Amino acid sequence: MKDLAIVTGGTRGIGRAIAQGLHDAGYQVISVYRNNDASAQAFHEATSIRIAKWDVADFDACQKGIEQLTAEFGPVKILINNAGITRDTVLHKMSIEQWQAVIQTNLGSMFNMCRPIVPSMRDLGFGRIINISSINAQRGQFGQTNYAAAKAGILGFTKSLALENARKNITVNAITPGYCDTEMVAKVPPEVLKKIVEGIPVGRLGLPSDIAGMVLFLVGQQANYITGATFDINGGLHLH
Ligand code: CAA
Repeated sequence: MKDLAIVTGGTRGIGRAIAQGLHDAGYQVISVYRNNDASAQAFHEATSIRIAKWDVADFDACQKGIEQLTAEFGPVKILINNAGITRDTVLHKMSIEQWQAVIQTNLGSMFNMCRPIVPSMRDLGFGRIINISSINAQRGQFGQTNYAAAKAGILGFTKSLALENARKNITVNAITPGYCDTEMVAKVPPEVLKKIVEGIPVGRLGLPSDIAGMVLFLVGQQANYITGATFDINGGLHLH
């Protein structure tokens, strides 16, 4: 049986490229999505990658979904926590719903997905977890107190989980993408996005495949000794 890899938010944007890359590398990939049935179905038809629908902000849904998948495909070897949303607005206009939606989806999902999966990775003595954070966790972003807080939370979560599982041959790493050519970034007002792109030293938005390449590296044998690390893939937009 092929090794099972789960990619959350795996039918569009960066998650789609990651799912495709893992599929091409021979993994049994399941792309989890929440809302967009039409694009998930189109993705499935185009790639033949399996899709599963549940809300990663909902712990019970994650537990149930993971139980069903592992009954069919065996234990999860690779988990890519990629699902994320934006509700951009300045804090003084932000509703509690906008705050909670972003925190629960982008950060709560880390617990919701890892809690059911990590015990079986520990039993197995193997696991690869990669959490997709953001450049805006590191440098902040006007209009993103909710998103930056959640994405920065992912970095602390990643380091701590890495420490707890280092002896079990489970590596846990984070990637901090810059601005990539995705539907999420396309929602940024055009005049704001133009300024951002002008500031990117490489001179263009990132490609989802730029991020997927790092994921493929991190799941391979060559990355056995890399854990608790954060990888910036931002075209030089934030250096530290
Ligand atoms: N820095 C400083 N001032 C800014 C600013 C900025 N980046 N953006 C806006 N302002 C100022 C404006 O100039 C304006 O000032 P005046 O009233 O003096 O003219 C004031 O703030 C209000 O601006 P807006 O009228 O544009 O305010 P708004 O409430 O309509 O929108 C916003 C504000 C929601 C933050 C909007 O500018 C926006 O969406 N910005 C993009 C945020 C962003 O980059 N999000 C990233 C999404 S992609 C992603 O998250 C993926 C990833 O990981 C990288």
